Amino acid sequence: MKPLKLLTNSTRHFSVNKPSNYKIVGVFYRGGVHAQEQPKLLGTVENQLGIRKWLEDQGHTFVVTDDKEPPNSTFDKEIVDADIIITTPFHPGYITRDRIAKAKKLKICVTAGIGSDHVDLNAANEKKIGVYEVTGSNVVSVAEHVVMTILNLVRNFVPSHEMVARGDWNVAAVAKNSYDLEGKVVATVGIGRIGERVLRRLKPFECKELLYFDYQQLPSEIEEEIGCRRVESLQEMVSQADVVTINCPLHEGTKGLFDKNLINKMKRGAWLVNTARGSICVAQDVAEALKSGQLSGYGGDVWPYQPAPSNHVWRSMYKLGQQDQGGNAMVPHMSGTSIDAQQRYAAGTKVILENWFQGRKQNHHDVICENGEYASKAYGERQKLVDKIKEFEAYK
Ligand code: NAI
Repeated sequence: MKPLKLLTNSTRHFSVNKPSNYKIVGVFYRGGVHAQEQPKLLGTVENQLGIRKWLEDQGHTFVVTDDKEPPNSTFDKEIVDADIIITTPFHPGYITRDRIAKAKKLKICVTAGIGSDHVDLNAANEKKIGVYEVTGSNVVSVAEHVVMTILNLVRNFVPSHEMVARGDWNVAAVAKNSYDLEGKVVATVGIGRIGERVLRRLKPFECKELLYFDYQQLPSEIEEEIGCRRVESLQEMVSQADVVTINCPLHEGTKGLFDKNLINKMKRGAWLVNTARGSICVAQDVAEALKSGQLSGYGGDVWPYQPAPSNHVWRSMYKLGQQDQGGNAMVPHMSGTSIDAQQRYAAGTKVILENWFQGRKQNHHDVICENGEYASKAYGERQKLVDKIKEFEAYK
């Protein structure tokens, strides 16, 4: 059915997308017995964001799966006539250019969470497919996880726990790699919602300095309140930091950013925390830096491809190959999917769908792409940055 046009003063084009029978495809991780035990595990195939009845009562079809690996997955089959795709970054249904080409009816992609890099955003823009995410829904959850991971690494927690669990006791072996966070320099790549919250939470630890690199600057009163300083060059910032935490989106400008060249610019023995996206770091370069002692530790929850293969190098890498030296604080992609976060991103997904069904304007913070254009600075500014660099080079 053709959407009815809605009269509006807005310069953007909005339509009433109701009444209609849309096909909505959800890709979520499987919860199994855990989804039964904890009904608030909403981001699972079983609990389906709690929106099945609401969708079906309106006449829509909701197909849910965790089977997503191309080329013959349920996702590949169902996408062909899907109007809407919902997926979480924790078990992402990758919406590649190929899949977009096959999804002839696709109108919007909704990320139940934050981070829409699993969608080929350029391809989505070309087809004027809207991309929305539940901005802010899990930023506290991730910021808390970042602080935990920094402490875990700096204090050498994981190998110390593993030692007692296996029945050993050797204080020297684990203490020789354990430090205080107080007096250290901590730096974030990206000072958006998560980056800012991380620095705010670190303030009471009395670090020597809190630094950030971003092309968006914090207002000076916020910088003062947090006690942080912007560094103009990423290389300069990482060379000053004892701990670097990555909190920017994955896009063309950040893919493979932390390769051996940048890691070698870091202080020898620094710690690197990445809860943003796995592909911002080059997996093998990180593992080698850990082994050589260039990094004392690497931790986070995001992997270049998810689920990560069982032999992925980040699962078992250790400093100098010795377990007690620690340095590995990797977990599955879970920082943004705490039970509290799941309630927020499930509710936010429903709001996005409801707005779209009603032809209402979305909360602008939730819009990544719309009407063939980038709407979010976090992703869209990258082209401007490239242009700025070109202009500068030409001027020189
Ligand atoms: P945000 O949009 O509030 O902030 C992102 C910041 O990164 C912006 O200030 C932007 O200007 C900056 N940025 C973009 N490119 C950059 C670059 N090349 N160098 C430095 N800064 C750059 O986003 P938010 O909510 O803080 O989330 C950040 C990222 O964290 C998401 O894009 C997502 O990939 C990841 N994330 C991970 C989660 C998890 O469960 N592990 C959950 C939520 C988000």
